Amino acid sequence: MVVREGAQVESGPRPPGFDPTMPNEARMLDYMLGGKDHFAADRAAADQALALAPELPIMARESRKFIHRAVRYLVETGIRQFVDIGCGLPTQGPVHEVAQAAASDARVVYVDNDDLVVNHAEALLAETFRTAVIRADLREPDELLAHPGLTDLIDLRRPVGIVLVGVLAVIPEDDVVLRIVDRLRRAVAPGSHVVMTHAISDVRPEVTRRLAELYQDEQIVRGSRRRNVRTRAEVEPYFDGLHVVEPGIVHVPAWRPDAGEPTVDPRSVWAIGGVGRKP
Ligand SMILES: C[S@@+](CC[C@H](N)C(=O)[O-])C[C@H]1O[C@@H](n2cnc3c(N)ncnc32)[C@H](O)[C@@H]1O
Repeated sequence: MVVREGAQVESGPRPPGFDPTMPNEARMLDYMLGGKDHFAADRAAADQALALAPELPIMARESRKFIHRAVRYLVETGIRQFVDIGCGLPTQGPVHEVAQAAASDARVVYVDNDDLVVNHAEALLAETFRTAVIRADLREPDELLAHPGLTDLIDLRRPVGIVLVGVLAVIPEDDVVLRIVDRLRRAVAPGSHVVMTHAISDVRPEVTRRLAELYQDEQIVRGSRRRNVRTRAEVEPYFDGLHVVEPGIVHVPAWRPDAGEPTVDPRSVWAIGGVGRKP
């Protein structure tokens, strides 16, 4: 089902559990990115977040641009297969568009644990070659990597690009995040790369605390009740065991900016990111 505002929303079939009155984080993000795939409830919830942090759309756009630069870098290093975990809606410059523009044989599997996101993504990608969407849980990395929808397209004996952008914060327990990234790193072939970002509280502690409280409210975003706010020092160990490529773990806009990119104030993009290669 294509979930778009308008006639199709009113008349089209709806998967079980679909409730347009319940805000959904992926659609909120699409709204902030200027997309079309959102409902009034998503916009209302996003507007509450925007009232606290008007910089969120800049952050969302910078995060997308970071993914684009990182994916192009990975293609340059020879990576031709990608797994985008916690993908959200594959709109607004999704991984496969960037990867396949650089290498037409690139294959991409999108992973999300939200049925609504998966159904929606399947519809959006219905006519796209060498891509798949699977429903799987980041908390169960072994099952995720063994999912037939993933192994049909991705050969884990060869280097792969794992994309974990804007998703690790949904796992509240620090030890669980460390276990997940460790497990993913061990499972992939040498030469694989892991692309990660995480919002950090160091830059605007009061705003990030209040936003975390907002997201913990079940009425705002279902399933995101215990979103963690982390510091840079807490996020850096997620790259342990990987060779972090230049320029390191930096504010997202500072990661290999394209020539001519305007400089962005780090206080308006309080997220860090990096790319680590498995030796
Ligand atoms: C903030 S969105 C990030 C979207 C995308 N990575 C981006 O940067 O634009 C987080 C996504 O993670 C998904 N998610 C949350 N918990 C998850 C889990 N345990 N396993 C897989 N996906 C999850 C949500 O459904 C949502 O689509």
